[in-house]
Amino acid sequence: MNVLVIGNGGREHAILLALKKSPKVDKLYCMKGNAGTAEIAENVNVDYMNIAAVTKFVAEHPEIDYYVVTPDDPLALGLVDELEAMGKRCFGPHKNAAVIESSKAYAKNLMKKYNIPTAEAEIFDNYEKALEYVRRKGAPIVLKADGLALGKGVLVCETLKEAEEGLKEIMLDKAFGAAGNVVVIEECMHGLKYTPGEEVSVLAFTDGKTIVPMITSCDHKRAGDGDQGLNTGGMGTFSPCPFWTEKLEREVLETIMIPTMNALNAEGRTFKGCLYFGLMRTDKGIKVVEYNSRFGDPETQVVLPMLKTDLMEIFEAVTDGRLSDIKIEWESGACVCVVLASGGYPLSYVKGKEITIGDVGDCTVIHAGTALKDGKLVTNGGRVLNIVAKGANIEAARVKAYAAAGNISWENMFYRKDIGIKYREG
Ligand code: AMP
Ligand code: GLY
Repeated sequence: MNVLVIGNGGREHAILLALKKSPKVDKLYCMKGNAGTAEIAENVNVDYMNIAAVTKFVAEHPEIDYYVVTPDDPLALGLVDELEAMGKRCFGPHKNAAVIESSKAYAKNLMKKYNIPTAEAEIFDNYEKALEYVRRKGAPIVLKADGLALGKGVLVCETLKEAEEGLKEIMLDKAFGAAGNVVVIEECMHGLKYTPGEEVSVLAFTDGKTIVPMITSCDHKRAGDGDQGLNTGGMGTFSPCPFWTEKLEREVLETIMIPTMNALNAEGRTFKGCLYFGLMRTDKGIKVVEYNSRFGDPETQVVLPMLKTDLMEIFEAVTDGRLSDIKIEWESGACVCVVLASGGYPLSYVKGKEITIGDVGDCTVIHAGTALKDGKLVTNGGRVLNIVAKGANIEAARVKAYAAAGNISWENMFYRKDIGIKYREG
């Protein structure tokens, strides 16, 4: 089969690396890709947010058998629906199911209606009423712009003043554009050891009839060590989550995952693809923080390297609605991903810096924001490279990843030094 993956980041490079191992796959393509994907796939220079341009390319390339749509934006636009209308086989949810990520208000109402554990919340489209609610509830409180906001539309407010300012930014100043026309205001959840609670990402394959959780992982969203600084797309991950147990997995399947799949079916929005559960262990049990309609980035970079089963076989089983026939197996041990970023990220940064890669041992260098310029590898984004290491345990993988990171450089490169440490005490 010839397979095209849509997206540009580390997540897409990780998916391509997993597909490359499949005996079912002949040729790989990536739209648009980066310098890393170009090593194993043919990069296609088409803007995937331009549906007409994508469908034109697809019509001209009948040799491509299967499409994997990964980023949130084209899923929310309905790219899978468009490709299927052209008779193409795809991995990824339809537009009406992708709404579980593209509208936080939709997701919150769904959880309320079907009693899926989540933070208590109210939804507002009126600023005055929202302000009155925030003042009544007081801080800490969490504000969420309804729509897609590059992962930045959530404000965890420690004080009432912060919450009042945040609400104004979202609803009046439109800091996240139309994404802030509606706001979800929710209680701040407390953990067993921390506030906010301890977080775990669980990606799951589902064909709408069966849902199979992948191994767990933990993200690090803040730019600085000790979870300080601004929110980013994710500065590193590790797998598995230290506080995850078989008992917790059963509880999550029974109270969250299966009910979510059934709820989407009941609403006529059957979800097929990878459903991402952002969960929090709280003093009142495990709850949903958010859903994503896609693989996480950089969670995918630590999850897929541990997959023993052929990813292409799983993708096809999801497409064909026979996921229950497949046995999905994982390696034991642990995996750590350290993101190397451009100085200044997540705010402004300079692109085009030449990258030097020395000895990385047996680590995998997964590319995110990279490009080739005059034959040289250069930076082309905020998050540039992901160093992925496997080990018998998280500590062993961590040591390897950081040894490799020390042998990579460009002007103003930075990375967090504490990936893989949190929740260690379980
Ligand atoms: P999200 O983009 O929905 O994942 O939210 C970003 C981050 O905000 C999460 O990873 C949590 O750390 C935090 N967060 C979101 N909702 C809550 C909540 N209700 N209570 C505490 N922290 C939250
Ligand atoms: N790493 C979080 C996300 O992919 O949304």
